[in-house]
Amino acid sequence: MKKSHLENCGNWFLDRFPLTKLWNDHMAQYYAPKNFNFWYFFGSLALLVLVNQLVTGILLTMNYKPDAGLAFDSVEYIMREVPWGWLVRYMHSTGASAFFLVVYLHMFRGLIYGSFKQPRELIWIFGMLLFVALMAEAFMGYLLPWGQMSYWGAQVIISLFSAIPVIGDDLSLWVRGDYVISDATLNRFFAFHVISIPLILIMLVFLHIVALHEVGSNNPDGIEIKASKDPWGHPVDGIPFHPYYTVKDIVGVAVFIFFFATVLFYMPEMGGYFLEHANFIPADPLATPEHIAPVWYFTPFYAILRAIPDKFAGVIAMGGAIVVLFLLPWLDRSPVKSIRYRGGIYKKAILMFVISFLGLGYLGMQAPTPAATIMARIFTAMYFGFFLLMPIYTRWEKTKPVPKQLTDQPTIEDRIPGWKATFCEMVKEVPVEKDGVTVMRKRLDTSGIINVLIRTAKNLKASLD
Ligand code: HEM
Repeated sequence: MKKSHLENCGNWFLDRFPLTKLWNDHMAQYYAPKNFNFWYFFGSLALLVLVNQLVTGILLTMNYKPDAGLAFDSVEYIMREVPWGWLVRYMHSTGASAFFLVVYLHMFRGLIYGSFKQPRELIWIFGMLLFVALMAEAFMGYLLPWGQMSYWGAQVIISLFSAIPVIGDDLSLWVRGDYVISDATLNRFFAFHVISIPLILIMLVFLHIVALHEVGSNNPDGIEIKASKDPWGHPVDGIPFHPYYTVKDIVGVAVFIFFFATVLFYMPEMGGYFLEHANFIPADPLATPEHIAPVWYFTPFYAILRAIPDKFAGVIAMGGAIVVLFLLPWLDRSPVKSIRYRGGIYKKAILMFVISFLGLGYLGMQAPTPAATIMARIFTAMYFGFFLLMPIYTRWEKTKPVPKQLTDQPTIEDRIPGWKATFCEMVKEVPVEKDGVTVMRKRLDTSGIINVLIRTAKNLKASLD
């Protein structure tokens, strides 16, 4: 049969480029564990958010002016005059918060299932480099609208460099390109935010995925699926990534877009947490805002900085909070990966870590008071305790035997009837008088809620033992 021009073109291309091989190696014949759960959505969502940031970022650049005299007005122009500019801007600013939320959940997955452990140390290291690059990207991006918080936030953070002995003052001058935050700073931050760091991010994502596909994905059981193969050489507990996980990830994407769009259209500033109120006032070098706080995703680290009385020690502690994350693969000495087979100590330690991280995040947003500073110190000690004591408690604790193959766990579908019953337990029907007619209305039931809370606390305690 005669081939169409399109087929001929396709074959010409495939004879010269290994597209089929790439597709098979990384999608259609890439075997992933068959028990991925909710936590495994966040890798693909991080990719989606990255693409969103790149596309909306390019569109914003078309009307943004990186000039201290024009930047603020150009953002207002985008919001008010450019067709759909408000949407693009909010997609970018909400996207930044979504990026951190997704990446924090993605990292937490690694923590509970031991995905950073041998042989995935390099995936974790590339991930951590991504996290650092992402923080730099967000920090520099926040200066660009040239609002009060852009200006003063950058002022506070860059002045931290001056705490470094001997070279500090010169270093902060070098970073700013001026004695104060100025047009020179804005221009270089724009260059980094728009070109350099996005390139680094894309390159690191590539390395992250290449490293992942070399060793294969971990899973909620923390078992190496490559250890048991069928006669055709495929892992018995594996399924091809495409179509099984492409379809599953689309479900995650749909749910994510629902929540993302809800925030985008109904609360794009999130009450000042995503875009701070002070940033709707143009930068004024002569008027310091009453309360300078970074955006929520930096606040855990900012709270650590403030918790330490000495400025330089605070900078070291803040940096140390990130460095310990890099060291995680070597701090954890447990013979098992997944939290499912660890002992109670790790579970309690991880709970303490979550409490300390959220606590620090909250305190970093508040104005410092003596009581808040004490709390921040306690949480800082808990945060570092989780990591620095890890070599001891992970070696000590008794772990459970790990099965040879993946286990069956209840799916979301299995859990829905239980969730429904819990919801029904928390509401009751009460008669309500309306226009002289008695109708039954659903109301929250305090005793039902208390029962659910007690049961949840008991379940949590049992799962920590
Ligand atoms: C731009 C940011 C990032 C993107 C786009 C990204 C993307 C991905 C993707 C697509 C996967 C495979 C799917 C999955 O396992 O969920 C993955 C796996 C992984 N990522 Fe990331 N990631 C990012 C940041 C990070 C960070 C910050 C860390 C931690 C420091 C990290 C650690 C890991 C680990 C350990 C795995 C393997 C998980 C396993 O097999 O259980 N990633 N990442």
